[in-house]
Amino acid sequence: MKAVLFLLCAGAWLLLSLGHTISVSKLSSLEEFHFKSWMMQHQKQYSAKEHHHRQQTFARNWKKINAHNKGNHTFKMALNQFSDMSFDEIKRKYLWSEPQNCSATKSNYFRGTGPYPTSVDWRKKGNFVSPVKNQGACGSCWTFSTTGALESAVAIASGKMLSLAEQQLVDCAQDFNNHGCEGGLPSQAFEYILYNKGIMGEDTYPYQGKDGHCRFQPQKAIAFVKDVVNITLNDEEAMVEAVALYNPVSFAFEVTEDFISYQSGIYSSTSCHKTPDKVNHAVLAVGYGVQNGVPYWIVKNSWGTAWGQDGYFLIERGKNMCGLAACASFPIPQV
Ligand SMILES: *[C@@H]1O[C@H](CO)[C@@H](O)[C@H](O)[C@H]1NC(C)=O
Ligand SMILES: *[C@@H]1O[C@H](CO)[C@@H](O)[C@H](O)[C@H]1NC(C)=O
Ligand SMILES: *[C@@H]1O[C@H](CO)[C@@H](O)[C@H](O)[C@H]1NC(C)=O
Repeated sequence: MKAVLFLLCAGAWLLLSLGHTISVSKLSSLEEFHFKSWMMQHQKQYSAKEHHHRQQTFARNWKKINAHNKGNHTFKMALNQFSDMSFDEIKRKYLWSEPQNCSATKSNYFRGTGPYPTSVDWRKKGNFVSPVKNQGACGSCWTFSTTGALESAVAIASGKMLSLAEQQLVDCAQDFNNHGCEGGLPSQAFEYILYNKGIMGEDTYPYQGKDGHCRFQPQKAIAFVKDVVNITLNDEEAMVEAVALYNPVSFAFEVTEDFISYQSGIYSSTSCHKTPDKVNHAVLAVGYGVQNGVPYWIVKNSWGTAWGQDGYFLIERGKNMCGLAACASFPIPQV
């Protein structure tokens, strides 16, 4: 509380004494105040040298968030765990750097012609969606998209909600073009689980968020894949059908800087691409709907529950937004 008073007072004093430069000085002490409370909230500690650099990055991000929220956009931004990082650093730590082989995914999904329900939310149909997890500083989003889809598929087929081992996919799925913390694809991970004859649980193969040696034990496998369904490149309507009729669907899209600070509303961007070679993050569509005439997907992310809307986000549907229809797939479980 003392610190708060001091900072506010410092601002007022500057306001009285310094005439024109004030707004800048005042803002920076306000920024410092926000930075300090953000540091406390996120339990951050820096060396004296790093502190300065982090505070500057934070101030830049904070300004961008405020500017965005003053504009006319379909989504709001907020500070979150990424607010002391530049987008380059986030890309390096959390996103794929190499293009994945999305377009290599051959389709085996034949869709009907509908009509489909106007909205679906698997979270509300029963206990079909596992809690949001956190990938940490490892480009393992594809493992969480994979476990999320298979957890849902098993729950829908058998009524049992399991928690499956992302770390097994990080450590063991290399033969299927996956690269641990450097990236991979849900469709390739489903293939791995199918041929490997199973995946263990979070309890017997806990998540570590870094590359390691494969420690799969066949007798401890608890979930199995019977078949892998790859949705046709750019056929977003097929994703709608799959989510409506069968299962949450794994997909990838291109994360650009404006996505990182997403808080609420329907995400839509003009800075991302639509092609399969640009996607850099995999997630899980658990439903869809329409709000004020704007169709959207309901998507489960793997950045913890403090990010976005309790770990979820909405993204505009029907435009292949950020390439989200470039490599969608889901597993058929063996139960
Ligand atoms: C905000 O954006 C919407 C949708 O693009 C548009 O219909 C509306 O006129 C805009 N409002 C303002 C104040 O610019
Ligand atoms: C794409 O596929 C080729 C051929 O299977 C493989 O050599 C390459 O490593 C793959 N790239 C990625 C990023 O997985
Ligand atoms: C689905 O995609 C995976 C990898 O992305 C591929 O190995 C598999 O052959 C595809 N399935 C079909 C039926 O084409």
